[in-house]
Amino acid sequence: MNNKVTLTQFLIEQQRGLPDASGTFTLLLNNIVTACKQISHKVNRGNLIGVLGSAGTENVQGEVQKKLDIITNDIMINALNWTGHLAGMASEEDDDLITIPAQYPRGKYLALFDPLDGSSNIDINLAVGTIFSILRCREGVEPDIEDFLRKGAEQVCAGFVIYGPSTMMVLTTGHGVNAFTLDQDVGEFILTHPDMRIPEETSEFAINMSNQRFWEPPVQRYIDECLQGVQGVREKDFNMRWVASFVADVYRILTRGGVFLYPCDLRDPERPAKLRIMYEANPMAFIVEQAGGLCSTGREAILDIKPTGVHQRVPVILGSKKEVERIIRYHQEADAKGTETAKGMG
Ligand code: F6P
Ligand code: MN
Repeated sequence: MNNKVTLTQFLIEQQRGLPDASGTFTLLLNNIVTACKQISHKVNRGNLIGVLGSAGTENVQGEVQKKLDIITNDIMINALNWTGHLAGMASEEDDDLITIPAQYPRGKYLALFDPLDGSSNIDINLAVGTIFSILRCREGVEPDIEDFLRKGAEQVCAGFVIYGPSTMMVLTTGHGVNAFTLDQDVGEFILTHPDMRIPEETSEFAINMSNQRFWEPPVQRYIDECLQGVQGVREKDFNMRWVASFVADVYRILTRGGVFLYPCDLRDPERPAKLRIMYEANPMAFIVEQAGGLCSTGREAILDIKPTGVHQRVPVILGSKKEVERIIRYHQEADAKGTETAKGMG
């Protein structure tokens, strides 16, 4: 490919377009890129360097940690805590907020990340990823929990790296979505997918069907109609995909459209949904909406939710705009019907 644009060049050119930009943000992103290259290398080497398998511990979510969950979390923290660009961090793998060691200066950003998304796939050699979200922080203070609990709409930047057949970084700073492929020979991410757009309509859905009996009626209705195919109200056949790796499912939707649902789950009132808002749903919602798609819980735009906890979970429905709008409408219709029934009984 001639005239290759590297991620570094892309970021510096973007920075030049913003008169007030100090360059700090570009440097911060470069540190994230460095961490992700290290993770890519470890994931790629796999069992040759003994990093596969379980660590025998659990994270704050009660999920069994893989060795690579811990290794990648350490890589992210060690690549970012000394830079002076961050005031604090939060990770899926850490119960508490991660403070910047006392000897380093505090910066004006917060980084939240899922260091190894889809890690249950790592031992079967399927795609995994790193998801991150950057927020602005008050300067000159040690950030408290309220500094972190910002709506997704306030994100300065969101991105993910997918460690698949190619390692790719997908990035938004609120001006569209661009994706870069890691050229392993030279160690640089190269712009390969400029201005990604999600087709508005789709006939492909992604959901973990094994949870069907726990879904709410609007989701049951939507999937049921998809499954009826050409003979049903949708009058077309649908295809289904479920990688069980959020980064891979979202990347597919970014490239060829589709809809992804990890909906509300009625089995456990304590845990009504699976994905975490601050380092999974919010960054993906920012990316998907910047690419012309939509992201909702079915009742609320993900990006408008004020989180109540760093590890809070939310239902996630994202992807092709018209399809997500239809699912939101099904929620509204079901809720209106529920209200009518309640009134009738009252
Ligand atoms: O991080 C959570 C996650 O691994 C996502 O990457 C993925 O979309 C989902 O969980 C898969 O869930 P399940 O194992 O229920 O299919
Ligand atoms: Mn994850």
